[in-house]
Amino acid sequence: MTTIFHVSDLHFGRPAVPAQIEAIEELIQTDKFDLVAISGDLSQRSRAGEFQRAQVFIRDAEKVSRVIVVPGNHDVKWWRAPLGVGDQSRMYDNYMQFISTDLEPVLRLPGATVVGLNTSQGVTPRTLTWNVRDISIIGDLRPSQFEKADKAFSTGEPGNAKVIVMHHNPVKGELSQRHGLKRTKKILGAFAAMGVDLILCGHDHQESVHYIEHTRKGTVISTAGTVSNRSRGGRPSSVNEIEIGPKTIDVTTRIWSSEKKTFVHGPHRCFERSVA
Ligand SMILES: [Fe+2]
Ligand SMILES: [Fe+2]
Repeated sequence: MTTIFHVSDLHFGRPAVPAQIEAIEELIQTDKFDLVAISGDLSQRSRAGEFQRAQVFIRDAEKVSRVIVVPGNHDVKWWRAPLGVGDQSRMYDNYMQFISTDLEPVLRLPGATVVGLNTSQGVTPRTLTWNVRDISIIGDLRPSQFEKADKAFSTGEPGNAKVIVMHHNPVKGELSQRHGLKRTKKILGAFAAMGVDLILCGHDHQESVHYIEHTRKGTVISTAGTVSNRSRGGRPSSVNEIEIGPKTIDVTTRIWSSEKKTFVHGPHRCFERSVA
């Protein structure tokens, strides 16, 4: 059994709620998950101080768990290289200084190969839409990233679950009615082709769990809600807990209870792990 604590959109800075962050930090220390996955938007405005607080959070989690982190759109200074003009690496300077120089880490755990993909690539011609609100919000994945993931999975332990961690949601949010990514059909098709079992993402600020059926194999998508005061539709903050067994993937949403000052167990779903 591989256990994952999936948290997203912490937004350290003004949106962060100290009591909720403290409760999560405590949960991580007591429950000792195999993996803590943070699917982006650690900061609100890519500021050094926000990332420094995130760095403390990550270092504490690393004392008891493996940790994987990928950047979210709020973690990228897209204005430094708009439309691909300028030095792309400058967009990630604070992220790289305080969080990681690796924007796409690969972790190999007993039972799971976990691949981080960076969907937060700033403003590029590929992410432009007719909706002006989408500027800097929409994510992207390129063919070279699929190749990288496929290679990491194919060199993983046979039978290991294939897990992707990325920021943007490939399934429409229920309230937002928006995808985080363009070309979602193509993207989910590419993941299906490489036999991905589980996608961990965020960005929508509303928790959800989906199962996408493909002809050969299904993919479970865990979209973690936010842990901040920016939750969609005034919903309480939430995190997802996942257990990957040899035959099943269980996802439980834990929801903030302001009364109990912790994240209490909410809806639970169990999926059969189909074999490709
Ligand atoms: Fe966010
Ligand atoms: Fe986001």
